[in-house]
Amino acid sequence: MDATAIILAAGEGTRMKSNHAKVAHRILGKPMISWVVDAALAAGCLRIVVVVGSHADEVRDIIDATYPGNDAITCVEQVERLGTGHAVRVALEATGISAGPVVVLNGDLPLIQPETISGFAATVSTGEVAGAVLSMLPPDPFGYGRIITDENGSLLAIVEQKDCTPEQADIQESNVGCYAFDGAQLAAHIADITCDNAQGEYYLPDMLEILRRAGQAVTSFCCDDYREGLGVNSRAQLAELTAIARDRINEHLMAEGVTFIDPAQAWIGPDATIGRDTVIWPQTHMIGTCVIGEDCVVGPNTRLTNVRCGNGCTLDETVAIDAVLENDVNCGPRAYLRPGTHMLDRSKAGTHVEIKKSTIGEGSKVPHLSYIGDTQMGAGVNVGAGSITCNYDGVNKHATTIGDGTFIGSDTMMVAPVNIGAHAVTGAGGTITKDVPDGALAIERTEQRIIAGYTERKNARR
Ligand code: UD1
Ligand code: CA
Repeated sequence: MDATAIILAAGEGTRMKSNHAKVAHRILGKPMISWVVDAALAAGCLRIVVVVGSHADEVRDIIDATYPGNDAITCVEQVERLGTGHAVRVALEATGISAGPVVVLNGDLPLIQPETISGFAATVSTGEVAGAVLSMLPPDPFGYGRIITDENGSLLAIVEQKDCTPEQADIQESNVGCYAFDGAQLAAHIADITCDNAQGEYYLPDMLEILRRAGQAVTSFCCDDYREGLGVNSRAQLAELTAIARDRINEHLMAEGVTFIDPAQAWIGPDATIGRDTVIWPQTHMIGTCVIGEDCVVGPNTRLTNVRCGNGCTLDETVAIDAVLENDVNCGPRAYLRPGTHMLDRSKAGTHVEIKKSTIGEGSKVPHLSYIGDTQMGAGVNVGAGSITCNYDGVNKHATTIGDGTFIGSDTMMVAPVNIGAHAVTGAGGTITKDVPDGALAIERTEQRIIAGYTERKNARR
């Protein structure tokens, strides 16, 4: 589809009562604007123009961070916010778009589906129809522009809530905020929109009536599922749409063979993939790009952000961020895997264990109460309870290496930089400051003293 998408994201979002741009608010961990941009990209739009204004820098930063180096996406600033019609005018003037199909989407329309956009945009591709608006039948149309048709069902106009007569307010068919225009007709008539209405704004929906009056064919399409067209204007709607998005994603995953103990209690983002026979326990969150394999058990109480995980893993009460887990890895309860953690096959990060920027080798185990940072650990290592890599001297971070098959005694402090060889042993309670050769025992503790009869003498003194 050779279409340009204009996404309107300059509005104030007053009803959100927020210090942030409305479209920066997240649904399942993903900013609202990115849901819309992704839908437009997936629909096949070749060029995307995001109109920014209120909190312009914040929205620009989201676009830059989410689509780095993507020249197909540009931001245009609408300095004065005079309405959606004005926003499109600013976009056209800044980019010089004056031909081809143009899809306009509200930035607060996160649940719109790519197939809906592409199917709908095809209406203007033959050149016969100059403008089309997507409509819906929401249970409560209050706040939306209403679709006014003649007795034959042909589109006459769109009337905003604040401009509705009581009769018009009874109309259920509402404007989704998704339009398709012939670019040449849009450019030719965009300046015809006036601000002669209750809000004194330039309304984009007026474009349909303007085109019709100019003798062009216009039409409206009602989408099958009104939920796709729901907009976000308030925190309550943000929560409502989050629940709808969650249900939609979890239903899809269940259809693909994923088990949910309770799908209402798992918040899986739109960019997660989960393999079949994986079981998701309640209070699981997946944010960003998570790829989870088959036969895993995730949760309860688990939050994963950009985590890649192979097959057969168990993540019980685990928080993991930017981490990679291979197959049959076992984490938690209460493990914290920070960025740069790489857990190889059959490795374990147990209870109250924190790992950062470290590789835990095949079959290696860190079962209890440990911190492992900036460490390269070989295979078959066992780290005793309470052991810590002292990787930070207050100024710089230093590395630790631990060779294959080494046994780290409980409560070992590994003061980095330090290298502990393969098949070595450290005695419990040791502070290891010097390298340990392969196969050696490193023991660092003062000799134990026995003071016989101590308790009896102490009691006698009382
Ligand atoms: C708009 C439509 C309404 C439709 C509804 C669907 C208009 C006049 N009305 O109403 O018919 O039913 O969406 O949700 O378009 N924006 C700008 N610049 C501006 C004003 C708005 O970029 O000057 C952006 C906003 O950031 C938002 C979008 O346009 O993403 C829609 O604006 P909003 O104020 O939310 O319009 P609604 O009153 O919801
Ligand atoms: Ca809106």
